[in-house]
Amino acid sequence: MDSSLLDDVAAARDAGLARIATAASLDDIAAVDAELLGKKGSLALLKTRLGSLATVDEKKAAGQALNAATQAVSEALDARRTALGRAERSARLEAERFDLTEELTAPRRGHSHLVTQAWQRLEDVFIGLGFQVAEGPEVETDFYNFEALNMPRSHPARSGFDTLFTDYHGETAEEGTVLLRTHTSPVQIRVMQTIEPPIYMVMPGRVFRRDTPDATHMPVFHQIEGLVIDRGITMAHLAGTIDAFTKAFFGGAFTSRLRPNYFPFTEPSAEFDIQRPDGSWIELGGCGMVHPNVLRAGGLDPEEWSGFAFGFGIDRMARERHGIDDIRDMYSNDIRFIEQF
Ligand code: FA5
Repeated sequence: MDSSLLDDVAAARDAGLARIATAASLDDIAAVDAELLGKKGSLALLKTRLGSLATVDEKKAAGQALNAATQAVSEALDARRTALGRAERSARLEAERFDLTEELTAPRRGHSHLVTQAWQRLEDVFIGLGFQVAEGPEVETDFYNFEALNMPRSHPARSGFDTLFTDYHGETAEEGTVLLRTHTSPVQIRVMQTIEPPIYMVMPGRVFRRDTPDATHMPVFHQIEGLVIDRGITMAHLAGTIDAFTKAFFGGAFTSRLRPNYFPFTEPSAEFDIQRPDGSWIELGGCGMVHPNVLRAGGLDPEEWSGFAFGFGIDRMARERHGIDDIRDMYSNDIRFIEQF
């Protein structure tokens, strides 16, 4: 008997099964199928050797061995083909999948601009100190912006407020008397005309000046005005309020000072500075005792009432709180800058 034929069948079967087990793709399995079971495949070639066997028994035994090997190989091919097909299909589905969760989480949440944040925090701090909040119009008349604040026409202090006038002046106002307010101080007059003292009020808002933009100036910026009117109010109340505010807004390591200055609407007047923990000083606004002429313009008797007022730059405070070098960066609309705050 050609015992080597039985050995060769066993060897071909084992080599085929090993090859099937390592086939990596459906294309690979098709190639292995042809190599093993095709017309010129290894098992078919062995079949041609059956005729050379001497006895019927030998042929029978070898034929059975070949059939068994063919069946084992084709079953292994089927199983591997099914497994690879399943793996390839799920890989393709995975690759083609629309990940909708990405769409849901991707949009970035916006937040308030840092000037708006400072504005809201200032309101919170003053509300905490017992103040109420009011607002006035951005388009004002010469009367509220200047005249009632003790700056009659041709008063030299007017030149400190480089003013933008509107073409529109209505039916009643004279030409050149309607303007974009240059500070929030006109709201002092509107509050005094509307509310009976005692008054403890802050008035934040947008103001406009023909200032050229630079590191500390913008032509459109924000101020918060403060007005306190009561009986027996003194400069000490003003200094105490400003110091309480400084510590509440900037933190306990900051202190404040008042430096003599001049504003037509307050007497005496002062500049308000804060001192950073490193000892350096920065100017934040003006303040003083409300001038008797201003109290009169607001309809109050200076013999009965006294008070103080202040006006701070909100943008400068935001700039200071966040250590921003150039105020213009806050308005550049560069999202990479803005989203840091
Ligand atoms: C005034 O506007 C007075 N109305 C303040 C005042 C109110 C004094 C009540 C007394 C009583 P001044 O022009 O100095 O003052 O401006 C006040 C603050 O606004 C400045 O200290 C500064 O912080 C800010 N500021 C002024 N001009 C600009 C500008 N162009 N850009 C940004 N901030 C400015």
